Amino acid sequence: MPVTQVLTSPGDVRAWSDGVRCDGERVALVATMGALHVGHDSLVSLANEHADRVLVSIFVNPLQFDRDTDFDAYLRPIDDDVARCERLGVDAVYAPTASAMYPAGFETTVTPGALADSMEGAARPGHFAGVTTVVTKLFAAVRPDVAVFGEKDFQQLAVIRRMTADLDLGVEIVAAPTVRESDGLALSSRNQRLSDEQRFAAVSVPRALDAAVVAARAGERSSGPITAAAMAVLERTPLARPEYMTVFDPETCQPLDAVAAGARIATAVWFGDVRLIDNRAL
Ligand code: PAJ
Repeated sequence: MPVTQVLTSPGDVRAWSDGVRCDGERVALVATMGALHVGHDSLVSLANEHADRVLVSIFVNPLQFDRDTDFDAYLRPIDDDVARCERLGVDAVYAPTASAMYPAGFETTVTPGALADSMEGAARPGHFAGVTTVVTKLFAAVRPDVAVFGEKDFQQLAVIRRMTADLDLGVEIVAAPTVRESDGLALSSRNQRLSDEQRFAAVSVPRALDAAVVAARAGERSSGPITAAAMAVLERTPLARPEYMTVFDPETCQPLDAVAAGARIATAVWFGDVRLIDNRAL
């Protein structure tokens, strides 16, 4: 089995990436916060199709958490994650410490535009600025030719695409489809924090999105009845506490009053102190 190099500082990661590019090879980045699962594995596979070498970054980014409790509870099984990368044939892991990423005196951030105002941006103030800042730093250290992001976090993907274009970062952004459990629940590192009862109830999230799709396919064009069909599923599930259910334009991430070509629906739902998000094309 090839050995996965574990790099911990921006300088080391830059030297690794420079070496790869000197050999005329393309580098792909898969940025993660660890607690890796089959969804992350699928991003690595896709990255392998687009480049010669794959680097997985693992960093639980404090800047993008709006609640300390969520940051503290986020799982950090770093040894398991590195072993998993090894099995997947990942060439290098970049796992910086918080002080390597944000040394004393750090004060420069990247502010996203209107794409980041709705849905996750409205529910979690500052979240996307934390994401754009850390992804810019990862792009600057790794200088990848291509980076893969999941449609599971559709608004994040849109914000990162826009930022990459706006700031001329020169990284090709590839979108990966959402990987789901057999009952439809989107894989997420946060699923592991659900109790058995909450896990059972969490299937209501994909079921709610299914109900929206059924309504849209039946010819409903107006967002109100479509979101109502989805919310009805969550309301029947006592443990589910929906935060938003929004039909949106995939280009602008702004809410739509009526379904247009390409329209999607996104939701955030709480189960106890665990917050799950999901989205689907209508
Ligand atoms: P994280 O939640 O670890 O997700 C890392 C990447 O995996 C993201 O691009 C996400 O969309 C993708 N992903 C997560 N679950 C998936 C699933 N079920 N199917 C397919 N892809 C999935 O997203 C982040 O970390 C962070 O915000 C990050 C971009 C690393 C910046 O800190």
